[in-house]
Amino acid sequence: MAITTVVFDAYGTLYDIQSVTSVTDQAFPGHGDMITQIWRMKQLEYTWLRSLMRRYEDFEAVTRQSLVYTLRILGLRYEEVLFEKIMDKYVHLDPYPDTLPTLEQLQGRTLAILSNGAPSMLNTLVRNTGLDRLLDKTISVDVKRTFKPSPDAYGLIETELGADPSEVLFVSSNPWDAIGAKAVGLTVAWIERVTPEAMAIACENSAIVPPLTMFKAMRTQMDELGLEPDHRIRGLSALVGLLPPVAKS
Ligand code: 2OP
Repeated sequence: MAITTVVFDAYGTLYDIQSVTSVTDQAFPGHGDMITQIWRMKQLEYTWLRSLMRRYEDFEAVTRQSLVYTLRILGLRYEEVLFEKIMDKYVHLDPYPDTLPTLEQLQGRTLAILSNGAPSMLNTLVRNTGLDRLLDKTISVDVKRTFKPSPDAYGLIETELGADPSEVLFVSSNPWDAIGAKAVGLTVAWIERVTPEAMAIACENSAIVPPLTMFKAMRTQMDELGLEPDHRIRGLSALVGLLPPVAKS
């Protein structure tokens, strides 16, 4: 069946989560990389823990709690205003260089985001970066009060877009998200931004593994969960070759 609808993950897929390093490093010179990587790892961990415990709090709360954790364990002191300045980057994240051009080239299909992001932070980010002009819908998991990779979260694609799952391509660079979408039977394109070869070289060349390399090892390589994405692509722009242009009905 033809793909009529492309649904993207937001953080790490359309938006470069590493772009927070500009503010974390400015706030705490020399600690930017460490803060950025621990923050993102804990943020995701908290979504999974809260889902399992059935103690949902939205992604903005989880993002705050994981930043509090990160600064605390690193022994970094801060004023509230500095904390808010770091948090503010979450509504001004940098899109990847190929995000806007790819969304422009895919016009004609229904294009949407399905993200763990809380509605207000997600909508503000999409508006601030001009993606609202290119997307048909931004869907937050918040209505389900659980996070991806819960099947309930992916079910929103069908209910919110009215799309038959067989006509949907789900796109994520987060391996756990690609696998979560596969687990509910969606067709999935996984963006493998860090190749296994590049990963091995990064580890080999480091006597002391830098935080970013550890993050890449934990969060950018395909998992051993018995599921495989349908497509492995190197960047968003590869979607254009995967999906020939169509006239929107
Ligand atoms: C998302 O945008 C957290 O990256 C994940 O849903």
